[in-house]
Amino acid sequence: MTIEAWDAFEAAARKAGEQRIEDLFVAEPDRLERLTVDAAGLTLDLSKQPWTAEAFEAAVELAKACDVEAARARLFGGEAVNVTENRAVLHPALRAPKGADYAAKGEPVSRAVEAGRAKMRTFVEEVRGGPIRTILHIGIGGSDLGPRLVWEALKPLNPEIDLRFVANVDGGEFAQATADLDPATTLVIAVSKTFTTLETMANARAAREWLGGRGQFAAVSANVAEAVKFGVPQERVFAFWDWVGGRYSVWSAVGLSCAIALGWEAFEGFLEGAAAMDDHFTSAPLEANAPVLLALAHMLNRNGLNRPIRAVVPYAQRLRLLPAFLQQLEMESNGKQVDAAGAPVARPTAGSVFGDAGTNGQHAFFQLLHQGTDIIPVDFIAVARTDEGPTGMHEMLLANCLAQAEALMVGKRDAAEPWRRFEGNRPSSMILLDRLTPQTLGALIALYEHKTFVEGVLWGINSFDQWGVELGKSLASRILGELTGGDALPHDPSTAALIARLKR
Ligand code: F6P
Repeated sequence: MTIEAWDAFEAAARKAGEQRIEDLFVAEPDRLERLTVDAAGLTLDLSKQPWTAEAFEAAVELAKACDVEAARARLFGGEAVNVTENRAVLHPALRAPKGADYAAKGEPVSRAVEAGRAKMRTFVEEVRGGPIRTILHIGIGGSDLGPRLVWEALKPLNPEIDLRFVANVDGGEFAQATADLDPATTLVIAVSKTFTTLETMANARAAREWLGGRGQFAAVSANVAEAVKFGVPQERVFAFWDWVGGRYSVWSAVGLSCAIALGWEAFEGFLEGAAAMDDHFTSAPLEANAPVLLALAHMLNRNGLNRPIRAVVPYAQRLRLLPAFLQQLEMESNGKQVDAAGAPVARPTAGSVFGDAGTNGQHAFFQLLHQGTDIIPVDFIAVARTDEGPTGMHEMLLANCLAQAEALMVGKRDAAEPWRRFEGNRPSSMILLDRLTPQTLGALIALYEHKTFVEGVLWGINSFDQWGVELGKSLASRILGELTGGDALPHDPSTAALIARLKR
């Protein structure tokens, strides 16, 4: 059943790929309406994707055949969908309104979530009412990218409390982040699900020293014992749970720094926006379900038309970190070569994602998007209204966003010289936020989370582990021993020579 649905989908996609997208608007009078979806305050226009009505139908059939609805029910039902780690995956529980009733592997979690939120809120108000002027947020990967994106997207022009981030184990980042900070008015928050991550522990130790014995240190972790062992008093440790994946954790206490710097109301709004997307995802029919359709549009390109790269271009400077966030979300979740049972996957899984804010990207990599030999689908993200900035600029920004999407699709095939010619027929999705608010940002991130999940279901993989990061970590710890005076260990000739060179 699934194999047949995949075959039918890929065949329909290939056939659709032979047509020009712009012509499909003429052939399908309902196209724009059918492929435009409103969800949780966002509008998605997927009509510039290369699906014919037939391919669209085959895509929805594929979602049905792969039982996306049942998989979704297992996720929201708290089953151990992360099979290799035997864990539930319940980030929606973190943003559910008070009174929700989630359970992870049968154990109720919603009361603990509410208690955790109440502890966060008390701390937020305490810090905001005190002498702290800056938060130094230490964390990496999922303990960094989400909070960094939220802060950049929502930070006020004159923040009462500033927020700085340190992720890398390049001491230069720590030095730069702290250069002009006063330890007396800085609160350090070390965020690590495991509380063992090399980079974060090195930066946390550096921060503890930098504070010079001051106790302004809090921790966020699923490993409370390790944080306490590090020296953080229990009441300053904000717990989360093993059923929260790192890259899905911004809704938990991992968002504490943002909650302090932005205020509790903003953080709550952020959770509300995501909860609204959860509602949409769990209730809308597949053929009008925003995360499902965004995923299917991606599969159409990735699997049907063999396009392994996608660009994400937010036409909003405040969202410029979205591509970096999505790189972890999508590539760490779905960069897998075996299915959930350990067998080789039947077809290519996640490709690569890159991007930058528009219009900046136009002056860097858009040449290749328009005239390069590979077709690279684009996600455009635009914000309809803003009160920020000099008059007239926002319209220029929006005009550029719409122009790029149109140029990619329509092209310009009648130019005399070949180098001025644009073949067009290059697909894109458009995601429109009315305004960039905590709510719409929450909905946007949740949209991509669920899209990533749906793709994992269709590919039959476990989107919630990340074994692929382990080998490099263990080799790094061996090499560190050698670089710091330990005996030489066996390596390939190139690595051995580089180690010897660095030790000279
Ligand atoms: O190395 C990858 C990873 O495990 C990510 O999945 C995670 O978000 C990041 O490291 C940080 O991990 P932690 O929060 O445990 O420090």
